[in-house]
Amino acid sequence: MRAALSEYFGEAGGNPGRSGHRMSVAAARIVETARETLAELLHSNDASRIVFTHNATHALNLALYGVLRSGDHVVTTSIEHNSVMRPLRHLEKLGVELTVVACASDGTLDLDDVRRALRPGTRLLVTTHGSNVAGTLSPIGALAALARDNGVLHLVDAAQTAGAIPIDVQEMGLDLLAFTGHKALLGPTGTGGLYIREGVALAPLIRGGTGSDSAHEIQPEFMPDVYESGTLNVAGIAGLAAGGRFLSEIGIETVQAHERKLVAQFLAGASEIAGITLYGPGDAALRCGVVSFNVAGTVPSEVGLILDESFGIMARTGLHCAPAAHRTLGTFPTGTVRFSFGWFNTPAEVELALKALREIAVWAANGAMVSAKGNL
Ligand SMILES: Cc1ncc(COP(=O)(O)O)c(C=O)c1O
Repeated sequence: MRAALSEYFGEAGGNPGRSGHRMSVAAARIVETARETLAELLHSNDASRIVFTHNATHALNLALYGVLRSGDHVVTTSIEHNSVMRPLRHLEKLGVELTVVACASDGTLDLDDVRRALRPGTRLLVTTHGSNVAGTLSPIGALAALARDNGVLHLVDAAQTAGAIPIDVQEMGLDLLAFTGHKALLGPTGTGGLYIREGVALAPLIRGGTGSDSAHEIQPEFMPDVYESGTLNVAGIAGLAAGGRFLSEIGIETVQAHERKLVAQFLAGASEIAGITLYGPGDAALRCGVVSFNVAGTVPSEVGLILDESFGIMARTGLHCAPAAHRTLGTFPTGTVRFSFGWFNTPAEVELALKALREIAVWAANGAMVSAKGNL
């Protein structure tokens, strides 16, 4: 990824579509090659259906505000990230009616509950593919079929899964899929995108210069320019493409199998540590690489600090921008400690994490958390 960024700054550095000079053309080539790489990874046979955005939040906002209008009904789930929940709560104020389907306490979504929530007037179903708190996977293929059968559009938040779990937008019949670049796609921060199935019409979120159709003051209507106003993060997109190429070589099935093994190892080890509470499904096959837990007698931030400072392990703690998910798990308002296992993690690192948790659980049981930190 670093090499791709450096190559962009060294040899391209231009603004795609804004000029005919060699640097602009080189930058445009980087963006279009990246689009093809992402389309290939997601199995879209038309690269122009991939729109680049600044992150998954931007992509989700583009889809939500692009589809929903006052009087529409939208259905979502109780494990969504705030990048879905906050726009939906705002849209509610603009006259959109919202139903939040409750997931089970391990984050599992019941298809029948979703079916019951759909009704005439339902315009959109929004579901995360992998919970960023519990790690629980949702059956996006079955949800897409359910939505389609009911004449409802389906938006998938694949922030946690794109690059880590195989996704075939065509075979699964997905309408809209938002992804971020900086997680399993191994790209830099400030990158992401939205897949938009042909035939799905969205109002653009922003309008402006696209470097195309410049004689007109009206936004072009063709893909992907209609949704890509303003200068793109070409350096970031170059890095994202490098991550995508790396994943294509390994194969996403291989990444999934690797992460699943690490998650299974962690769940088996952690479930034997007295004082550790694990959240999400017990079966690694039902999860992505995210695992959440708590240690009795501690708060998540305290555990996170000790993991970092005493063991060199970086974990995310707290509410993970997903208060509804924590309410579902019963961990609101304190939250959890979260590990995210990825391609570059090893079984030895999982073992190290388990060893650290064993020590922390003993310190906590002995009321020695403060002195443990003092001994760093
Ligand atoms: C499930 C989920 N959705 C959306 C997002 C937002 O992603 P981004 O930070 O790229 O906007 C995240 C980020 O952690 C996430 O985990």
